Amino acid sequence: MGLLHDKVAVITGAARGQGEAEARLFHAEGASVILTDITDSGARIAEELGDRAVFCRHDVSSVTDWQQVAQVARDNFGRVDILVNNAGVTGYEPVDAIDPAAMQRYLDIHLFAALHGIQAMVPLMTAGGSIINVASTAALRGYPHYVGYGVSKWALRGLTRYASHDLVGRNIRINTILPGGVETPMLLRDDDGDLIDAARAAVPMKRFGTAEELAQTALFLASDRSSYTTGAEFVVDGGLNA
Ligand SMILES: NC(=O)c1ccc[n+]([C@@H]2O[C@H](COP(=O)([O-])OP(=O)(O)OC[C@H]3O[C@@H](n4cnc5c(N)ncnc54)[C@H](O)[C@@H]3O)[C@@H](O)[C@H]2O)c1
Repeated sequence: MGLLHDKVAVITGAARGQGEAEARLFHAEGASVILTDITDSGARIAEELGDRAVFCRHDVSSVTDWQQVAQVARDNFGRVDILVNNAGVTGYEPVDAIDPAAMQRYLDIHLFAALHGIQAMVPLMTAGGSIINVASTAALRGYPHYVGYGVSKWALRGLTRYASHDLVGRNIRINTILPGGVETPMLLRDDDGDLIDAARAAVPMKRFGTAEELAQTALFLASDRSSYTTGAEFVVDGGLNA
């Protein structure tokens, strides 16, 4: 029997990258999965997975869209056991030039989206539920020209710790994954040869992670194997921040 037998998982940003890998792995481990994304290509993945998989078009920054996801969960599966707040966007702006609207957008997609997700999904969650927030090793320190992305991931990390105290009484766990470089379109988009080679060489393992490796960490946190783990942070970066 799979590690997620009979569980219901909502995964945001599931049309590609880490979210897609999580949806595929969770489904293979027996979960019913609701794949959500702002782009419709997640529908193809849900169709491919077949039984126990549905797609919902979803902008994570929209409260109305979260209500729609809750409706899809209720209609199809009656409850939610696992929520992965995975959707994200990146970009480079220095602090003296970032447009406040761009800063707000990072916060909307990384911080407020997770808050909306918690508020929409917790009422559908049973005891033993698990919420996983995907932050970044950009929330461990500062970097040049990365203030919008980095600060919003720091905020998500903080939300997770505070939420763990408020949700523990309901027996709902909430944890953060902090990936380093992961070979997904988000990272490869910035592929300009020398820069990406230098970043790869700086990793003690001399490579970036794969979406599938990050999905394995999410699987541990989603499953009952992590039943004593809440408010915790998992750095998955090939040893870069060791
Ligand atoms: N790839 C890396 O190197 C890396 C490193 C650290 C953290 N992360 C984080 O991991 C998570 C997954 O990223 P990935 O590497 O799979 O990137 P990705 O770009 O491949 O996938 C991100 C997904 O999020 C979706 N998305 C973006 N905005 C959305 C919105 N408003 N509503 C719903 N969906 C939206 C995109 O359509 C896409 O499918 C992100 O939170 C990212 O910040 C990635």
